[in-house]
Amino acid sequence: MRARRWSVAAGALGLVLVASGCGGGGGGGGDNAQVEVFSWWTGGGEEAGLNALIERFETDNPEIGFVNAAVAGGSGSNAQAVLEGRLQSQDPPDSFQGHAGAELQDYIEAGYLSPLDDFFTEQGLHEALPDQLVEQITYDGSVYSVPVNIHRSNVMWYNPSVLEEAGIDAPPETPEDLVAALETVAEETDAIPMAVGAQWTVDHLLESVLLGSLGTDAYNALWEPGADWDTPEVTEALTTFEQIMEHTQEESAAEDWQEAARRVADGEAAFNIMGDWAAGYFDELGAVAGEDYDWAASPGTEGTYMWLSDSFTLPVGAPNEEAALTWLELVGSQEGQDIFNPLKGSIPAREDADPANYADSPYLESALAEWQAGPQLAGSFWHGVTVGNRWKNDVDTAVGLYLGDGDLEALQDALVTAARAE
Ligand code: GAL
Repeated sequence: MRARRWSVAAGALGLVLVASGCGGGGGGGGDNAQVEVFSWWTGGGEEAGLNALIERFETDNPEIGFVNAAVAGGSGSNAQAVLEGRLQSQDPPDSFQGHAGAELQDYIEAGYLSPLDDFFTEQGLHEALPDQLVEQITYDGSVYSVPVNIHRSNVMWYNPSVLEEAGIDAPPETPEDLVAALETVAEETDAIPMAVGAQWTVDHLLESVLLGSLGTDAYNALWEPGADWDTPEVTEALTTFEQIMEHTQEESAAEDWQEAARRVADGEAAFNIMGDWAAGYFDELGAVAGEDYDWAASPGTEGTYMWLSDSFTLPVGAPNEEAALTWLELVGSQEGQDIFNPLKGSIPAREDADPANYADSPYLESALAEWQAGPQLAGSFWHGVTVGNRWKNDVDTAVGLYLGDGDLEALQDALVTAARAE
């Protein structure tokens, strides 16, 4: 599977370079004997999918050395800063992971990315990918990344035995039921009611609580420019968030999402709200669905898929552009997606995946069926869909302050200000 040399819209590339003041040619310079790929998939459940892709890449392309430049830290909490530094100093990797949506638009507007229009045409990606997803990676009529998957953010994982011990018959379906269930777990068992990890996992929890409390349309509207966060409905959602947070163990920078998910599978915790990369990790741990863990939509969000999509890019100035395109070819292919996603805990971005590849995982089988049935869609803010890095980081700062001082009114004020800054 050797890529030809793509004529990557050289004209448009030139414009981007002028706009970003880079100058100095359209990348290349390397001898394509290697490809450096940047992501944050290092830890449990994260790297298995990447490693399977790397293995296939190396088998198909023995003449290209694969350099795995992954930086640890769930949701890119460390990687994104490292990447920004490299992009600013014009030292890009050959390809990097970026979320489809507003996050990608930030990179495009900064002039960091080369358009992939010819590549999309050659690979038939316009036909293979859902139109709505292609919109999220399009800017001024050009496409800028290759989506490999669809992840779901609003999943509530729980331990059936802990719920049984607490006398809870069915997983909670509304935010109010969740708060009641957490209180029951706290009273009846020794388990942590709701496990969290590093601060970003609290941001992640917050988006599911906002979605569950406000509903899909009002949640999506929160991320429009000029959105009003100064409403009684947002206050109510944040109050629920506070009640949930009262039943978490202290969040800890040293513990990433894997630790929180593992606590559920091991029966140390009753619940964890985390994206479905947890499904890949549970498999890796050997945890059994329906016994060690089970799942439901996070309370109040049944019928809505809060989605996000990992995609890979061709940076302006990528040293080994041809090798990068060979990587992107694998990432965008049906074969590549069906190798990667069953291990990653995600469903393929392409619409022509073979469901049989996902049938071994009860979670993925149900996720694929739900996705294909056409659920309501909400974009994950934390994982780059609805807002760019400025707004996202403002929310994170506000959440960090709240974790320190517990001042819910100040949290809402900061969220109001963050929205008005757009
Ligand atoms: C997300 C990413 C997922 C997964 C997760 C936890 O932002 O899209 O693929 O890696 O972070 O690290």
